[in-house]
Amino acid sequence: MMVKISQSILSVNYAKFGQEVEALENAGADMIHFDVMDGHYVPNITFGSQLVKSLRPYSRLPFDVHLMVTNPMEMIPWFADAGADIITIHAETVQHLDRALSLIKSLGKKAGVSLNPSTSEEVLKYVLDKLDLILVMTVNPGFGGQDFIPSQLEKIARIKSMIKGYDIEIEVDGGVNPMTAQECVSAGADILVAGTAVLVGGKYKENMEALR
Ligand code: DX5
Ligand code: ZN
Repeated sequence: MMVKISQSILSVNYAKFGQEVEALENAGADMIHFDVMDGHYVPNITFGSQLVKSLRPYSRLPFDVHLMVTNPMEMIPWFADAGADIITIHAETVQHLDRALSLIKSLGKKAGVSLNPSTSEEVLKYVLDKLDLILVMTVNPGFGGQDFIPSQLEKIARIKSMIKGYDIEIEVDGGVNPMTAQECVSAGADILVAGTAVLVGGKYKENMEALR
C-alpha cells in the first residue's frame, strides 16, 4: 500500500491560498492539512475556520484540520460547518478527551488526536473505539521547517501494535523529508504530513514523488 500525503498549507504564500491548494492537489496530494494555531497553545498564529470555508470550493480532497488551540471544544463545530473532513485535537488541550471525540463524531466527521513529542500514547488506550486517526508530532508544534525528533519512531511502532484490530490510521507530522519518511513508514505510519519538504523550491510534484 502506498503511503498517503497530507500536504500542509502552513508554509505556502498566504496571498495565494486558492491557487496553492489547486497546485498541491494537481501535484498529487491525498489530503490538505490545515495547521490552525492560536498564539496561545503554540507560539505562532495562522488561520481559522473561515479559511477552510473559503478554500472548500478549490479542492475535492479531504480537508485534514489540525487544531493547535487552547479551546478546541468551542471551535470544533465551526470547523465541521466550514467543511473539514477530519478534525484532530491535541490530547493536552481538553479536560475530557472522550467527550471531545464524541463531539467530533456527532458532527459526522472523522476524529483524530495529536500527541506532542513528550506525550505518551497511553492517553489513547481507552478511547480507541472513538478514534479514526492518531497524529504523532515529530516536532514540537508551532512552526514549519523544524528538525525531526527521532525518539518518536518508537512511539509510532508502539501505537501500531496498540491499534491492532481497530480501523485507525497513523499520521506523522513535522520534519518529514525523503529520509525520515522512510523511517516513519517502516515504523507504521499510514499518512505523512508534508510541509516545507514539498514546498521548497516550488517543484511540488517532484518533491512529493521524492517523499513517496
Ligand atoms: C507544525 C505543523 C506541521 C508543519 C510541518 O506545528 O503541525 O504540520 O506544517 O511542517 P514541516 O514539514 O516543514 O516540518
Ligand atoms: Zn500539522
